[in-house]
Amino acid sequence: MVPRGAKRKAKKKYVACRSSDLPLGERMILDLDGKNVGLFNVGGQYFALHNRCPHTGGPLCLGPITGTAQPTTGRNFEYGREGSILRCAWHGWEFEIETGQSLVDPKIRARKYPVTVEDGEVMVHI
Ligand code: FES
Repeated sequence: MVPRGAKRKAKKKYVACRSSDLPLGERMILDLDGKNVGLFNVGGQYFALHNRCPHTGGPLCLGPITGTAQPTTGRNFEYGREGSILRCAWHGWEFEIETGQSLVDPKIRARKYPVTVEDGEVMVHI
């Protein structure tokens, strides 16, 4: 958190890849200026998360890309959201790839970086 009145560090823009290099449902791990970042293609949209889990610092972005059990009113389990959830490689906490939001605790969020696509190049803003 930046204290009130302090200047925010300007974001730098990095060319991560060509959009054709990251197929639907895939990810790539990047080292951008010393930051380890996971870049994901979910449904044709690109999202970037810091490859460090907010739980105990595990390599979050190396975990399986999956779905999750949906809330139901009955005693059954319904599986859904396939391809939009990242399960941490260490202890299995689940996060929305799009937002970085933890499914375990709404107060916990993985660090997310803005992504843009310009002339077919996927750019990560750090
Ligand atoms: S380090 Fe990710 S769930 Fe524990």
